[in-house]
Amino acid sequence: MSVFTVLNPATEEPVTTVTQASAEEADEAIARASAALPAWRAVAPGDRARLLRAFAAAVDAASEELAGLEVAGSGHPIGAARWEAGQVRDVLMYYAAAPERLSGKQIPVAGGLNVTFHEPVGVVGLIVPWNFPMPILSWGMAPALAAGCTVVAKPAEVTPLTGMRIASLALEAGLPEGVFQVLPGKGSVVGQRLVDHPLVRKIVFTGSTEVGQRIMADCARQVKRLTLELGGKSANIVFADADLEKAAATAPYAVFDNAGQDCCARSRILVQRSVLGTFMERFETAVQGVAVGDPSSAATEMGPLISAAHRSHVASYVPDGAPVAFRGHAPSGPGFWYPPTVLAPVDLDDPAYTEEVFGPVVTVTPFEDEAEAVAIANDTPYGLSGSIWTRDVGRAIRVARAVETGNLSVNSHSSVRYWTPFGGFKQSGLGRELGPDAPDAFTEVKNVFISTEDS
Ligand code: TAP
Repeated sequence: MSVFTVLNPATEEPVTTVTQASAEEADEAIARASAALPAWRAVAPGDRARLLRAFAAAVDAASEELAGLEVAGSGHPIGAARWEAGQVRDVLMYYAAAPERLSGKQIPVAGGLNVTFHEPVGVVGLIVPWNFPMPILSWGMAPALAAGCTVVAKPAEVTPLTGMRIASLALEAGLPEGVFQVLPGKGSVVGQRLVDHPLVRKIVFTGSTEVGQRIMADCARQVKRLTLELGGKSANIVFADADLEKAAATAPYAVFDNAGQDCCARSRILVQRSVLGTFMERFETAVQGVAVGDPSSAATEMGPLISAAHRSHVASYVPDGAPVAFRGHAPSGPGFWYPPTVLAPVDLDDPAYTEEVFGPVVTVTPFEDEAEAVAIANDTPYGLSGSIWTRDVGRAIRVARAVETGNLSVNSHSSVRYWTPFGGFKQSGLGRELGPDAPDAFTEVKNVFISTEDS
């Protein structure tokens, strides 16, 4: 039996221990999910909707407890953790409206009636990373349950607590046993079993591009359905005609939110050369103003990194002699702290510029004109997110269409909205989550022709 000790990233103190599931226990959970499938898919749409609304209400009632677990077990600032628990409730409520709307089409044909059905794909394996344990769990789980699938989820090894609690809330809300299970454990054991088990008909994976590529290859053997949400290296493009005050004041939060452990982090700031000096002055003031510290304080904007190993990894992108333009603050003493760090000028082959750091490190690079801004923004294998700052509406639209990325904000750094589609171009992912069409990704379209000929 393997036991994992969850550490508080802000104090390095143990929070609790969690027994990790074995491969055999993963098989048993998959068997339970498969056994629960026929009854769950047969629940009348209105009743399935009611159960999902009850699940949302249970999450809402437990939101302070869930937020507290995320502060202790993941180091998220309490304000962010409350928003994340609220997101689980809202995503459940949004997809609670889906069961009655999962309609097919009637297509005109000669000699009969042709209709399509959206059949649940089956048991879904949901593999979740450690950076946003609650929201990312809900993005897969809620539309899958709404579509009539059963779900076995594996949280990241280091952040299992909120997912496990959310699974118990599902049972308290009345979801039948086996419909939604959360199995703490290692990716190489439980995650791999979900990928390999033939009764799991779809994998939803969020994590690194490297692991996602391996999972895609493994799924290919069974032609297993797959949604991938992977890494990013997104650009925040600031043109000279932008509201520079606002662009500079908001730029830290577009990359240092969640201590930069965010797939959507705008970790490459591109600034039109004619305003580079002005932007950097204002950006420095804004970076110095980021409140880094005790996650349980409502005033805190940025907490620690997830682990000592991850802090070492982030620090490796800022070796001695790195071009540090300026830094923000971070507490000293216990905790996996790393200060907001701005690198400029950087070489275009510097790993801090080319790789996903997944920490509070950002590079600033000048550009001359629109064409160069687009070329630099697209010069990456990733394509998840990004921002464009300009007062020229034509330019905003041209650049938004030209940047190869799944989610863009103009004159803002919008975070994920659950009612709009989310996902990546290129090596940032495959398929889309969220938005009105997400339940379709958990169904197979079945076409049925019924003859009307007189027999
Ligand atoms: P990974 O190391 O890829 O881990 C993600 C999940 O996969 C964890 O639950 C992990 O388990 C599991 N896993 C590892 N090896 C596996 C295997 N062989 N088979 C099945 N599952 C396996 O990523 P991470 O470091 O936790 O997360 C950071 C990455 O996620 C970043 O690249 C980030 O950009 C990306 N991310 C993307 C998005 C979107 S929406 N595109 C959102 C958030 C994060 P363990 O816990 O045991 O390692």
